Amino acid sequence: MALALALAQTCGCPGDEPPPEAEPWVWELPVGFPEPFVPPENPMSAAKVALGRHLFYEKRLSVNESSSCGSCHEQARGFADGEATPVGATGDAVPRNSMALVNIAYMPTYTWVNPTLLTLEAQALVPLFGEHPLELGVTGHEEEILGRLRADPRYVEMFAAAFPAAEEPLNFDNVVFALASFERTMISGNSDYDKYVYGGDAEALSAGAKRGMALFFSERLECYHCHGGINMTAAFFGANSTQREQAFFNTGLYNIDGAGAYPPASAGLVEFTGREADRGRFRAPSLRNIAVTGPYMHDGSVATLEEVIAIYAAGGREVKDGPYAGDGRANPYKDPLVLGFTLSPEEELDLLEFLESLTDEVFLTDPLLGPPG
Ligand code: HEC
Ligand code: HEC
Repeated sequence: MALALALAQTCGCPGDEPPPEAEPWVWELPVGFPEPFVPPENPMSAAKVALGRHLFYEKRLSVNESSSCGSCHEQARGFADGEATPVGATGDAVPRNSMALVNIAYMPTYTWVNPTLLTLEAQALVPLFGEHPLELGVTGHEEEILGRLRADPRYVEMFAAAFPAAEEPLNFDNVVFALASFERTMISGNSDYDKYVYGGDAEALSAGAKRGMALFFSERLECYHCHGGINMTAAFFGANSTQREQAFFNTGLYNIDGAGAYPPASAGLVEFTGREADRGRFRAPSLRNIAVTGPYMHDGSVATLEEVIAIYAAGGREVKDGPYAGDGRANPYKDPLVLGFTLSPEEELDLLEFLESLTDEVFLTDPLLGPPG
């Protein structure tokens, strides 16, 4: 990942300076939302966001012009893709579920489990340049792909507008900067839940959703410990944060060998830390727009929200057969908050109704986040 290193050290390159004539960026944030963190080497600008949106949906960015970021991150699905696990541009199987992208500007670390991806800039290098698995497949084809963009007068113009101080603005560092700037604008805070909690609209939630909300925030179900806060996840990092609130937990989905093993493709945080206690730990996802982002979990192995609730109610998942059989409920590394509980059928419906109230139709249909015309 030579480019990753280069990028980490680019602060100070002439092309990365904020152009003096650029309009200052003004965040239009939902009520109750703090300012997100923006790395100083990539200040926000309207021109970068506009360019980033084009690049996010640009299939010419992939080796064979077949895929874009938007292929695995569809707006109507909360920027997830409806598949258990996706395939890359050339057919590589990607072992993890395409994540919903929501309020990602506020994440302290990126992806289901990698604690070392600290910025959206660093994360974007993975789908662009990663080879195992290959997602967009840029590596080895950099000049060819840049050539495609340079041949399009619209891109020449947009890169020049987004990076006015750079002599040759159309390069991959700037592709990454623009993508990350666009991604920081993917902000969702217009759900019925937001209207109720932050907007002061007592009528925004149905009686059932209100009962479900009480269950979600109860010590009986414990959901809120890991999925609380502005983004419905304990993971948080904002402009004024003094530390990255990390949130990696083992929820008892597997226990292949009785000693806590998860399937080899995704062993959890232990892959990065080498600590046994981190086996099966993944980042608690945001539950915003959760009704439209299934299938669920890091490997897409849970099809519906009803099943998710049943797993938590049982205190984990017993996988009855197949290569990954084992009793996740007895996983020795399972978080003590995943204890199990009993819900009446009405309570289950209430909890579902609450989870559905986290859907933000404005976000899912906002033309500014969709493919450019
Ligand atoms: C082949 C499908 C695929 C493509 C193409 C793809 N992604 Fe993803 N994306 C994923 C998967 C799978 C994950 C979870 C990866 C993991 O946990 O290892 C993910 C995770 C992410 C995350 C982390 C979100 C979070 O909450 O931490 C971001 C951001 C993201 N992708 C942005 C992008 C961008 C930008 C592009 C285009 C440059 C892109 N993706 C292209 C499948 C894809
Ligand atoms: C100990 C922390 C913890 C508790 C308690 C907890 N969760 Fe989770 N939740 C997680 C983690 C971590 C994941 C991802 C696990 C994985 O993929 O291996 C997750 C995944 C989910 C998902 C799937 C999200 C997606 O995008 O795929 C849903 C839905 C969910 N939890 C709802 C709930 C509900 C409802 C409760 C309460 C009954 C709850 N959670 C309690 C940590 C927790």
